[in-house]
Amino acid sequence: MQTVIGIIGLGYVGLPLAVTFSEKYKVFGLDSNYDRIEKLKEFEDKTNEINSIELKKSFKNGLEISSNISNLVSCNVFIITVPTPIKKDKKPDLSLIIKATENLTSVIDKGNIIVYESTVYPGVTEEVCVPIIEEKTKLIFNKDFFIGYSPERINPGDKKRTISMIKKVVAGSNKSTLKVLSSLYNSIIKAGVYEAPSIKVAEAAKVIENTQRDINIAFINELAIIFNKLGIDTHEVLKAAGTKWNFLKFYPGLVGGHCIGIDPYYLAFKAKELGYSPKMILAGRETNDYMPIFIINEIVKILSKKNVDFKNVKSLILGATFKENCPDIRNSKVLNIYEELIDFGVSIDVFDPLADKIDFKKTFGISLKESLNDERYDFIILAVSHDQFLDINPKEFLKKNGFVYDIKGFYNDPSFIRL
Ligand SMILES: NC(=O)c1ccc[n+]([C@@H]2O[C@H](COP(=O)([O-])OP(=O)(O)OC[C@H]3O[C@@H](n4cnc5c(N)ncnc54)[C@H](O)[C@@H]3O)[C@@H](O)[C@H]2O)c1
Repeated sequence: MQTVIGIIGLGYVGLPLAVTFSEKYKVFGLDSNYDRIEKLKEFEDKTNEINSIELKKSFKNGLEISSNISNLVSCNVFIITVPTPIKKDKKPDLSLIIKATENLTSVIDKGNIIVYESTVYPGVTEEVCVPIIEEKTKLIFNKDFFIGYSPERINPGDKKRTISMIKKVVAGSNKSTLKVLSSLYNSIIKAGVYEAPSIKVAEAAKVIENTQRDINIAFINELAIIFNKLGIDTHEVLKAAGTKWNFLKFYPGLVGGHCIGIDPYYLAFKAKELGYSPKMILAGRETNDYMPIFIINEIVKILSKKNVDFKNVKSLILGATFKENCPDIRNSKVLNIYEELIDFGVSIDVFDPLADKIDFKKTFGISLKESLNDERYDFIILAVSHDQFLDINPKEFLKKNGFVYDIKGFYNDPSFIRL
């Protein structure tokens, strides 16, 4: 039987997957956001992951996209790539993955495979999603329908490590499903696949990849706080320590977004449910979430020493997205910096050539600057190291006696303050 793939959720993860699979298979993409579908049909991907030429090529190859689930009726493999955020109380918000699963049950047929790529805690696929499919379709798990889990590792904004260049972990609900999925993903992933022994192992592997990164950055952020008190440049310490073969390279900074700053809460939630309250995982989160406050405290100390009236202080933040070279503004910690500063009465401009100005205004109520002009600032914060900022010399936009706080150590200018 010919493999026909349905991809549910055409965002940062789903769209590149749909485009890549469409080179070899018939693919139907579904997104509940009608505007997203309309823009994609006009060859416009606001995530910047797929350019218009690639999109045109995919449509030519037969990729069909819509907001209508019934268009996926001929698919026999479904891949779910919808968001898995957290709620206000930092507990997992599974409502979107549950909704996508419920919606899918209207087109699932005997023999189909449903693969989850969304990041979850171990157990969500088999304990939350499978029962929904069983109940709604009355089909029997591992007899009438089969399940897979294959976590996504894409790195938005990274044009080198694209989807096919990253090894993919694949798991199946039984041996034959694993083999089918392994060969399916192998056919598009040049870097190859890793067959995980179970769905829970694959789920856990993904969530710890991001948790490990969060904890490592938190450690370096903690060091930055200590070295700051000691009057030592953290970047110089890291450079020196990095000459040892097994010293890991991490740098201080803000940790936002919807993966590294979110996924540890998924693991912590599951641990707590099992009666264990994780120490390191949550300490890492706490440290990283504290960084905007620490940075603003440092800036306020400098301003206080200058004896300035905060109401007359004008500042500029360079970068508004959650990470470099990526337009994604979800859970951007730049917002926290902005809010902390506003509390002191300082006036703030924010400039980001990559962030969508309308989205940013809608989400955070802040108007991004269109361009940098004649305005001069008392201080400038480099918050996100977009490559485009290399073309800017922040000094040109400073008032006399102004200063630059380079959170990322991006400009390598000794006169700038670094985290
Ligand atoms: N972006 C990343 O860097 C990245 C990397 C690895 C894993 N992940 C994980 O992948 C998952 C998806 O993340 P993303 O960044 O692609 O999210 P995204 O917000 O960019 O895209 C998700 C898309 O799903 C759509 N959607 C939501 N509910 C739907 C439904 N019921 N039916 C159809 N479409 C629906 C949304 O409209 C959106 O376009 C998350 O679990 C995330 O943690 C993300």
